[in-house]
Amino acid sequence: MSTFTMDTSTSRATPSPVPGKRITAPSIRARKLDGRTEQPIVMLTAYTMRMAQLLDPHCDMLLVGDSLGQVIYGLPSTIPVTMELMCAHGAAVVRGCWHALVAVDMPFGSYEASPERAFASASRVMKETGCAAVKLEGGEAMAPTVEFLTRRGIPVIGHVGLTPQAVNILGGYGARGSEVREADKIVADAKAINEAGAFCIVVEGVMEGIANTITNAVSAPVIGIGASALCDGQVLVIDDMLGMFERTPRFVKRYDDLAQRIGEAARTYAEEVRARSFPTADQTYRPKPRS
Ligand code: KIV
Repeated sequence: MSTFTMDTSTSRATPSPVPGKRITAPSIRARKLDGRTEQPIVMLTAYTMRMAQLLDPHCDMLLVGDSLGQVIYGLPSTIPVTMELMCAHGAAVVRGCWHALVAVDMPFGSYEASPERAFASASRVMKETGCAAVKLEGGEAMAPTVEFLTRRGIPVIGHVGLTPQAVNILGGYGARGSEVREADKIVADAKAINEAGAFCIVVEGVMEGIANTITNAVSAPVIGIGASALCDGQVLVIDDMLGMFERTPRFVKRYDDLAQRIGEAARTYAEEVRARSFPTADQTYRPKPRS
């Protein structure tokens, strides 16, 4: 367990001991050797500096997901998320961690039109945030873009299966691949992104068998979310796993019930303010007695 010293001029917390080196995209890629990943890859989303600090010692990768649209901003989907939002939150997360690789989601509309457009957007994300990788959604159609970016120095995480930016095409957020044709397409998507050079691939919301087929078929590590325990790693949305929402998808395991605990803390505070029992002498400035 590391401790932190806060530099109050920059709000940057320095962990002690300072980790020697941040995890890199090649080292994540190399965790899968001859089709096997000895130690599963641990990934969570993070959107703020403080959350990054808390998660960093435990995670191999932190994803600044465009899920921040719903989780932080109360938007109805990830579609309205902008480049400015991704860059601001990406930079905050990079400032808060030292060890994990930070990847930032490319927002909808910033990369689909052409590989050149994707390069301009991804290089902006990397310059403004300091992140080491970007993630983009899509399969075969995005393979030339993944290859274009990878060949030009931008590590890419692919994302296939349930791709939330395509919600208007998919018609909802239900699990994908219950029909053979769609299952085959998802596997083909993952293979195409793998061939194009993605250093790992998120597989979201698919039937377990599809996730297992992909994990066995591609050389890049497969990071599952609503996929399979046999994937090379797992990712969850941090607010979901902390129990910040009343309703979560079936594939989420709640590791805490923060919504309830925050509500209880706020209720106690409100009671004490109304009863004038907060603040007490402990929280009040008073002149020091003269000696
Ligand atoms: O935006 C996000 O948080 C994601 C994860 C769910 C993989 O893409």
